[in-house]
Amino acid sequence: MTVALAHPNIALVKYWGKQDKPGNIPATPNLSITLSELVTRTEVEEHDSDELWLNGEPSNDAKVMRFLAALRNRYPIGYLKITSSNNFPTGAGLASSASGFAALMTAINSHARLGLNAEIMSEWARQGSASAARSMFAGYVALVPPLWRAQAFAPASHWPLQVVVAVTSHAAKAVSSTRGMELSRRTSPFYGSWLRAGGDDFAAASDAINNRDFAALAEVAELSCLKMHSVMLTTRPTLAYWNQATVAAMQTVRDLRSQGCGVFFTIDAGPQVKAVCLPEDAERVAAALAGIDGVQQILRCGLGEAAHVVDDHAVDA
Ligand code: PMV
Repeated sequence: MTVALAHPNIALVKYWGKQDKPGNIPATPNLSITLSELVTRTEVEEHDSDELWLNGEPSNDAKVMRFLAALRNRYPIGYLKITSSNNFPTGAGLASSASGFAALMTAINSHARLGLNAEIMSEWARQGSASAARSMFAGYVALVPPLWRAQAFAPASHWPLQVVVAVTSHAAKAVSSTRGMELSRRTSPFYGSWLRAGGDDFAAASDAINNRDFAALAEVAELSCLKMHSVMLTTRPTLAYWNQATVAAMQTVRDLRSQGCGVFFTIDAGPQVKAVCLPEDAERVAAALAGIDGVQQILRCGLGEAAHVVDDHAVDA
């Protein structure tokens, strides 16, 4: 039996749209931070057929099954019992698919003795969920051409920012990211300009991180988030992920920043608001977000480690 852990990540420069070729390849470079505290734990063991358990329930998740089939096309991997659980809400815009596929790839690599390095594993994890490629690495992570493997951009120690997550709903999302991206590509009038700006946003965020320039990172990260949501909102049928508490939390973050607090928001395909902050301001941000009507839970994170194996009892085949 092999156990692996992986953390979700949140993109500061978002990915929303795929290239028109196989391999689940993002259309634009993207950049994320891996979170601590939130974690997926995945156990794999030999079995007489494939069996998947997610958060204590049997599952037939089609993406996981396709991922296993693709891996088996390339490597000799027997049937597996996979037991995976998250210590945070699943499928609600908190990147559970990212940590899920990163943990699964890491566990299988060790269990089946595939001997793949983190970059190659990230290429496989990407095929399950592109953001999963980024959860293979710690700290600041880039998913970039030409190979579209994730790579470590900077370690957490370079700039140990903190994240306060305001959970405003525990409901799972109605439209999958893959379907949403395809609808956006086909119908949003802003999709083309969103793609064209991706390279510049990536470059601006890279500079801001290299220089530890919080104001510059705040500007480009909020803009990337709001452009992605403009594409989502102008998709037909519309992809509207925000609720009233989401909007209130965005306003609170802006107010705090205008009062000199080091904080900016980012939001993914769900209603949760992730407030990225300077460590000295995290307490104040958490207290302000907790006071908003409709905020159900506050999660506090730092920057997390790479996906890794914690317990490996795999026996030689
Ligand atoms: O990798 P997916 O299919 O879960 O899509 C991720 C999309 C966003 O979370 C909205 C943006 C991102 O870059 O993580």
